[in-house]
Amino acid sequence: MSDEASKIPCALIVMGVSGSGKSTIAASLAERLNWVYEDGDRFHPASNVAKMRAGQPLTDQDRWPWLQAIADEIDRVCESGGHVVIACSALKRAYRDVLVHGRDDVCIVYLKGTQLLIADRLARRKGHFMPPGLLDSQFKTLEPPAADENPVTVSIDAPVETIVEDIVRQLKPGSADDRASGRNSP
Ligand SMILES: Nc1ncnc2c1ncn2[C@@H]1O[C@H](COP(=O)(O)OP(=O)(O)OP(=O)(O)O)[C@@H](O)[C@H]1O
Ligand SMILES: [Mg+2]
Repeated sequence: MSDEASKIPCALIVMGVSGSGKSTIAASLAERLNWVYEDGDRFHPASNVAKMRAGQPLTDQDRWPWLQAIADEIDRVCESGGHVVIACSALKRAYRDVLVHGRDDVCIVYLKGTQLLIADRLARRKGHFMPPGLLDSQFKTLEPPAADENPVTVSIDAPVETIVEDIVRQLKPGSADDRASGRNSP
């Protein structure tokens, strides 16, 4: 994060294409920081869940209420003094703008990796069916976060623990890590 993002974050949004490791990294990061972990998919309205179950793609119109629900949750957690790590693909800038909604205490964490590496991980992932072509379309849709979004960008070509430490190191010194170590100390 640059100096402009001066506020200590209360919410981290872990973003990236399907299979980039959002759920894995966000859960591990939350545990490391002693923050709450949330999967963004939990905030879909019933109509979206029904569509997805029927194998129908979501439109952006479908997505706005879902993204707004996550933004509302961020407000709720931050206003009550809590801290949350949210896994959410947030592939487009417009989606992230809804999630962050101008807050300087919400930080984007971008999981960056090649299509080859991610395809390999998805092929090995158990209990998930991936329609062919989905990863292609995810990469086509992906708008990597721009510099003015002050993202923390990490390479996913590393063990989970290394990625988590990379994120913690990049977060503003004296913020998440110090507070987390204070909370975690016996
Ligand atoms: N750093 C890593 N090294 C090795 N395997 C990993 C790593 N991170 C994640 N994985 C594995 O890659 C697969 C995809 O990870 P995960 O399910 O967390 O991705 P995701 O971004 O949440 O995907 P989706 O968008 O479909 O929910 C899983 O099988 C996970 O165990
Ligand atoms: Mg996931």
